[in-house]
Amino acid sequence: MIEPGVTVWLTGLSGAGKSTIATHVARHLSDRGHAVEVLDGDIVRQNLSAGLGYSKDDRDTNIRRIGFVAEMLTRHGVLVFVAAISPYRSVREEVEHRIGNYVEIHVHCPIDVLVERDGKGLYRRALAGEIDHFTGVSDPYEEPAHPHLRLDTSTEPVEASVAKVLALLQDRGYG
Ligand code: ADX
Repeated sequence: MIEPGVTVWLTGLSGAGKSTIATHVARHLSDRGHAVEVLDGDIVRQNLSAGLGYSKDDRDTNIRRIGFVAEMLTRHGVLVFVAAISPYRSVREEVEHRIGNYVEIHVHCPIDVLVERDGKGLYRRALAGEIDHFTGVSDPYEEPAHPHLRLDTSTEPVEASVAKVLALLQDRGYG
């Protein structure tokens, strides 16, 4: 029997640090011999979700697709890291119930810090009205009510966030 894995779902605004934290944690666990996979919104949207936009329906479809893949991988023992804005609570709860072995991490960063960082230049464009439905600017983000972990990337360095996620997983037996 294969030991079931877990899906670690990182939700939060664009640029908050979801992908960076997911990649670091995944590398760490991979180095220790675990089977890991990262499902990153930006990459999924170039492949599995190519053609989808940012309406509520399209985002929910994107999240259901990611959840479908995450569920299969989790069932086969993989430690799955999802890095997607996933702004809507109801579809997050839907995939949580499907996957079962699911840990939710809210990667928080105040909007003014994100606008200041603006690694991809998207906030500047969104604030200038050049991108419609931009999460946190002109589209909603529903914060998780009871995440397993809430990280604030404006106040702690990446290494500290990574250590917290690793500790959480260790507590659950994934060391
Ligand atoms: S989700 O809402 O469906 O979960 P996802 O994480 O896959 O979003 O994709 C978010 C990425 O798409 C952002 O990091 C950003 O690079 C890009 N993007 C382009 N347009 C938008 C938009 N209107 N709102 C949010 N992100 C956008």
